[in-house]
Amino acid sequence: MSTVSADLVIVANRLPVDRVEQPDGTMGWRTSPGGLVTAIEPVMRANDGTWIGWPGGTDEDLEPFEADGMKLVPMSMTQAEIEGHYEGFSNATLWPLYHDLVAKPEFHREWWDSYVSVNRRFAEKAAELASEGATVWVHDYQMQLVPLMLRELRPDLRIGFYLHIPFPPAELFQQLPWRRQLLEGLLGADMIGFQLPGGAQNFVRLVRQRVGHKTHRDLVYLPDGRTVRAAAFPISIDAAGFEAMARSEPVAARAAEIREALGNPRKVFLGIDRLDYTKGIYARLRAFSELIADGHLDVEDAVFVQVAVPSREQVEQYRILRDDIDRLVGRVNGDLGRIGRPAISYLHSSYPREEMAALYRAADVMVVTPYRDGMNLVAKEYVACRLEDTGALVLSEFAGAANELRQAWLVNPYDINGMKSALLDAYSADDRETRRRMKAMRRTVAQNDVAAWADAFMSELAEVPGSHGKAVRP
Ligand code: F6P
Repeated sequence: MSTVSADLVIVANRLPVDRVEQPDGTMGWRTSPGGLVTAIEPVMRANDGTWIGWPGGTDEDLEPFEADGMKLVPMSMTQAEIEGHYEGFSNATLWPLYHDLVAKPEFHREWWDSYVSVNRRFAEKAAELASEGATVWVHDYQMQLVPLMLRELRPDLRIGFYLHIPFPPAELFQQLPWRRQLLEGLLGADMIGFQLPGGAQNFVRLVRQRVGHKTHRDLVYLPDGRTVRAAAFPISIDAAGFEAMARSEPVAARAAEIREALGNPRKVFLGIDRLDYTKGIYARLRAFSELIADGHLDVEDAVFVQVAVPSREQVEQYRILRDDIDRLVGRVNGDLGRIGRPAISYLHSSYPREEMAALYRAADVMVVTPYRDGMNLVAKEYVACRLEDTGALVLSEFAGAANELRQAWLVNPYDINGMKSALLDAYSADDRETRRRMKAMRRTVAQNDVAAWADAFMSELAEVPGSHGKAVRP
């Protein structure tokens, strides 16, 4: 496959496909279920794009290949890079720092060195593959140095950057020993997209204070005459795709089967998250179990299904969380469950999208209570799958999605009693009330889907004044 001269290059830490072992023992590829893939796939196809990313655990060198019509360029990582760049600086320094210090970030100079060298390799690969005047779209916190490194190698390019996670307030960001390098790295882009206006404002303020560039509203003026724009582009889902999947006969049948297997309780509560300490899984399960212990709910009437998708299992904080949740679920079910009626049905596994859609269809109350979350697409997926405008969403105020899904039962995830009341209100709300809320949220999600997000980003990137490179079709 030829990967030379791409007019659009996507740079992300991960490729949109995972390397998996097939039944015959050979290795193959499976499209990753994540939101990023569905978000970018249409832009990739329209522009014959090339995607540069890490294919997961292996450190073997793999040749570029095509999957689902997308040109993919795998970047290997050594064990030392996985530990320093991925598990270390990306997920034990930046991740907790950007999520309000929900866990304590660790600062290690060797992790930083590894982050720099991985970012450099990715930037060099993008520089090699991009055609004259091409657009390069760099994604997420693992790749924040790529924009400047790339611009130094290829000043002809138009470079966009999108941060999928929150961008923290200055008071937190400035703890970073390498704060200035990260800000300058990002400023290599022509446009930087954030989930929320607050993130863009935090960034512009930091650039003014720490780097000393002039700024006006969402624009940063660089001494070399370039302008960089920092603006919000709230990401979304393929709403029509989810709705169609939820409507399909196999998914409807599976939803009924799930309720049956749960013993047909009056109401099913559901949580689906990567097993991450930012998601507030522990506190939400405690809130639910206290409602049962207090006698407000009964295990004959209500069950909580919690899906925890394994994630970053080599990072210590994630292991601790898993043990804590294992213990909590065991204790709650031991204390409060009855034969065939656990209070919590806990699944530590990842599932295909169809199974998720069936769970969304089966659930009466969806509980999304992160301490901090860039957007949270699960909340939007649930809404998209509620074909009859039924079902209640309990949503953290600190998820980006709360900006749009105003009709959810909004909660402060640090307030256990507040969460208990919201869970109970959502459980006992009458049909008219849930329908009114769900209808409004469904309209919002249908109108602001992922195609609209990618279109908005691409067309505004093409408009940034002083931008280099030629425009790419959204
Ligand atoms: O959106 C945040 C994010 O970290 C993505 O960058 C990433 O692909 C996804 O969550 C899953 O995390 P990981 O790649 O560490 O498994």
